[in-house]
Amino acid sequence: MSSLIFVQLLLLGLRVISTTTDTWRHCTDLLPLDLLSFVLERDTSKLVPGVHMKQAGGVRGVHFSSPHTVLSFPSSQLLVNCDLFPKEFSIVVTLKVTHAASARNEYIFSLMEPKTVAAEEKENDKGDVVESNKKRGVSGEEHDGEEEKKKEEEKQGKSNEEHGRIILGLRFSRKYLHFLFKGHGGVVEHWVFRSTQLADNQWHTLVLTIGSHVRLTVDCNSPVEIVPSTPFPSDLNIQGSRFHIGSRGRWKGLFSGLLRQLVLLPGSDATRQICPSSDPQLAALSVPPLLLDLPVMGREGESHETEEPVSVGLERSCSELQQGQLWFNPLRKGLYLCDGTVWITVLEDHKRLDYVLEHQVLTTSSETHDVEVFQVPGMGLMAAMAHRSKASGSAVYLWTHSGFKLYQNITTHEALVWRHFNMGKKTYLVVSNSGGGPHNRFNKESEMDFSVIYKWSKKRKKFVQFQSLQTYCARDWEAFNINRQTYLAVANHRQGNNNHTIDSVIYRWNRLTKSFEVHQMLPTSGAYDWEFFTVGPYHFLVVANAFDGVTTSVDSVIYVWINGSFQVFQTIKTFCATDWEMFQIGSRVFLVVANGHRLHGNGPSRYAINSTIYELDMNGQLFVRFQDIVTYSAVDWEFFSLGEEHFLVVANSFNGESYSLNSILYRWQGYEGFVPVHWLPTIGCSDWEFFSFKGESYLIYSSAKAPLSKVFKLKTY
Ligand SMILES: *[C@@H]1O[C@H](CO)[C@@H](O)[C@H](O)[C@H]1NC(C)=O
Ligand SMILES: *[C@@H]1O[C@H](CO)[C@@H](O)[C@H](O)[C@H]1NC(C)=O
Ligand SMILES: *[C@@H]1O[C@H](CO)[C@@H](O)[C@H](O)[C@H]1NC(C)=O
Ligand SMILES: *[C@@H]1O[C@H](CO)[C@@H](O)[C@H](O)[C@H]1NC(C)=O
Repeated sequence: MSSLIFVQLLLLGLRVISTTTDTWRHCTDLLPLDLLSFVLERDTSKLVPGVHMKQAGGVRGVHFSSPHTVLSFPSSQLLVNCDLFPKEFSIVVTLKVTHAASARNEYIFSLMEPKTVAAEEKENDKGDVVESNKKRGVSGEEHDGEEEKKKEEEKQGKSNEEHGRIILGLRFSRKYLHFLFKGHGGVVEHWVFRSTQLADNQWHTLVLTIGSHVRLTVDCNSPVEIVPSTPFPSDLNIQGSRFHIGSRGRWKGLFSGLLRQLVLLPGSDATRQICPSSDPQLAALSVPPLLLDLPVMGREGESHETEEPVSVGLERSCSELQQGQLWFNPLRKGLYLCDGTVWITVLEDHKRLDYVLEHQVLTTSSETHDVEVFQVPGMGLMAAMAHRSKASGSAVYLWTHSGFKLYQNITTHEALVWRHFNMGKKTYLVVSNSGGGPHNRFNKESEMDFSVIYKWSKKRKKFVQFQSLQTYCARDWEAFNINRQTYLAVANHRQGNNNHTIDSVIYRWNRLTKSFEVHQMLPTSGAYDWEFFTVGPYHFLVVANAFDGVTTSVDSVIYVWINGSFQVFQTIKTFCATDWEMFQIGSRVFLVVANGHRLHGNGPSRYAINSTIYELDMNGQLFVRFQDIVTYSAVDWEFFSLGEEHFLVVANSFNGESYSLNSILYRWQGYEGFVPVHWLPTIGCSDWEFFSFKGESYLIYSSAKAPLSKVFKLKTY
């Protein structure tokens, strides 16, 4: 860990000490916090450990098989930049409980205090939690007598050792729903909702609202209100606490029913958002995408199963056939009703919730390997797309009020990449043609294996051919300036069918001949990407090496500019590296690599591997590991900032089985690094680009597996 982070930790410690209750901040963010999605969506390729998916009555839920670590996370990951639990909030739960379970105490979720060093071995690693919890759970079982005594105490609403660590929790015991929280003097308070019997093996949606009133609404019926002797505390400190979903972090108290929805909505009453509902037992505010897929069985026409309560997905048609049908769009978190012609909004969360909106689905002439977004003076925003098809070639699109529109066709041969650059006031584009590559049966150089530079013609209002350069299955072009000179670096990936250990080339603009000329050759191994960046007076160029003919586990190389050429600065072990992205947060400099896959002997490749963020340690003058993030055959990272917030989005392209998987948007959270906040469904994602236009911010992704690209609008709030 670099000294900078250490300093930040120190500062954080000081802040904690020096704050008083007056300056502690409440969590006032009004976003609904989908606790269940947060744990289930950590790994989008498969179900996280500790849960199984089960279906009951055609409706999916999760069943908890263990209080696994992945079902727990620091509250600071969701309740960001605040120390006190909201004073007013609601909790939405959709569950199914059996009668047998109702005899035990089972936690739907809990918020637990940090373990003190004295009470427990230091929790130095997430991995320890399950272990230590197992031990505690077992010893708990052994002392059943004591447990009984505790239950007695509990009935009287007293605190006890067992609950010494609980800050807040929702529990199911003896047929009733209990809401627990740490009250004054650390005493755990219990509020019991006695008039609601839920253990009937049916789905129910509960909304618990805490605020000026304490109410429980079951299946959108009239609420049950209780009048507690003391109100919910306005100073419930949650610093250092952890959420546990489906348990209180131990085996004992594991929830045995099915859970389908668990959302915390700070600041408001969720009943107003989900009730009335056409299906009150399954009223939804936010259900994990995984659980939304309707089972095929429901569509088969068994009389009691034919009624589809809500159809789910990103796009649905609405015609007479669908009249009366409800549609839940997980991306917009909106519920819509078809009136026979158009979708009427039943519920669309506050504008500020609409974080990432689908803005345009752009049908392209073929699959796309790369998108490049750039400005052309006098024209506006344009995008060049490297389309795969030789027949239709590539295309340049122009941004209009409705999105990108095809502007110019450009002949290419299995284009792999487009880059734009400027010299003076002129705009250029360079494209790499791979021209058949591995399909060429004769293992000789393809005639189509070259790159072309185009120049924007102001007069003709289009791009015209400027210079051709011999390249070898070039995967990337990077343009940069050093001392007012323009350079181009090409990543030559492969020569012929299988020679990957070849040179990549740095070209320099010659003002006299008005062309690019070879400046330096650098040895590369299946090069995929070049990234240029400048830190202070130093210019760096880093190559992503993917494959050396034998293994994908090869060194990628960071070069530094010294005396007119690039020299090796540092090598970093990568696994089929496909992209490097440099970004700065404040004065800190980071580099993130996209690792594609690891070859595993003669066995299948591993696609779910770590991609790593490195940070430049100014003292050591080296890039050091900062954070590992599991990716699925990652092919691109894109960094962007919105206001004060910083994000990374990864292009996950393949998980070993499918090309349809989520790309993930991560938000910078200081010393916690990047934390996943949004999951964007993609198909064969090949590239993400961020761009802004007229004050609005967008993301576009291209697909290497389907002839479409999608533009998302980023809602800022
Ligand atoms: C580009 O080519 C497509 C066919 O591939 C054609 O339909 C379209 O009209 C052309 N567009 C322009 C602007 O030339
Ligand atoms: C790969 O290509 C380079 C450059 O043309 C050449 O020097 C080298 O011998 C080739 N290697 C193989 C194994 O063919
Ligand atoms: C740069 O070049 C100059 C002269 O050509 C030489 O004296 C100097 O040692 C070089 N510096 C480095 C770091 O190689
Ligand atoms: C990713 O890295 C983390 C820690 O850096 C490690 O615990 C985990 O096992 C790694 N995952 C994979 C799939 O390599």
